Amino acid sequence: MNNKGLRKLSYGVYIINTINSGCIVNTLTQVTSDKVIVAINKDNYTNQMIKTYKKFNATVLTQKINMEVIQTFGFTSSKDNDKYKLFQTEKDSNNIPYIKEKMASLIECEVINEIDLDTHTIFIAKVINTEILSDEEVMTYDYYHKVKKAVTPPKAPTYEKPKKGYRCKICGYVYEGETLPIDFVCPICGAPASVFEKIE
Ligand SMILES: Cc1cc2nc3c(=O)[nH]c(=O)nc-3n(C[C@H](O)[C@H](O)[C@H](O)COP(=O)(O)O)c2cc1C
Repeated sequence: MNNKGLRKLSYGVYIINTINSGCIVNTLTQVTSDKVIVAINKDNYTNQMIKTYKKFNATVLTQKINMEVIQTFGFTSSKDNDKYKLFQTEKDSNNIPYIKEKMASLIECEVINEIDLDTHTIFIAKVINTEILSDEEVMTYDYYHKVKKAVTPPKAPTYEKPKKGYRCKICGYVYEGETLPIDFVCPICGAPASVFEKIE
C-alpha cells in the first residue's frame, strides 16, 4: 500500500505522562468537546502504567522543544530509567509529573474506556482540566519530519520502515538517503556520522 497520503493528516507531537512513566506520541486526538483518544503500543511501559492508574496528562510540544526531551521520551523506556530525573518537572492536580518548559499546554485526563488494537491500546479519556503553558508555535508532526528531520521509532503507530539509509547506533535515528554526509550529526543525540550503520 502507498501510505504517503497519510502524512498529510496533521498531527501534533505530545508527551503522555502518567505516574511513573511518560512517552512521546503523535496519536493524541480530540474527539468531542471534553474527550480525547490516544494510541499507545502495548510494549511501551506507559501503556501498562495508564492501564494501572487510569489517569494521564498530555503536554503539547512547541517548535522550541529541546531535542533531548524527544530523545529521552521517544527513544528510551521508563522501564530502564527515570526520565523525569533528567528534567525540571511540575506536578498536575493528580500528582502526575510534566515538563513545563517549551510546552504549549497541559491537558489532564482520566481514562473512561479502552479499545484493544492488537499491537496498541486506544485509550479514551475525559479531559478534566487544561492549562496554557506558552504561546510559542506548536510542533506538528510534519514540522518534526521536515524541519527537525527526525524519525518515528518502531513502537509508534505511524512508524514506516525506511527503505535505504543509515541508522544511528546510539538512539536509532534513521537518515534516509543513498549517502550519509561525512560531517552529518545525529539531530536526536548528537552522534557523529561514524556511529551510523548502513541499512539495506
Ligand atoms: C515522533 C514520535 C511519535 C511517537 N508516537 C507514538 C504513539 O503515538 N504511540 C506510541 O505508543 N508510541 C509512540 N512513539 C514511541 C514512544 O514514544 C517510545 O516507544 C517510548 O520510548 C516509549 O517509552 P515508555 O516505554 O517509557 O513508555 C513515538 C515516538 C516519537 C519519537
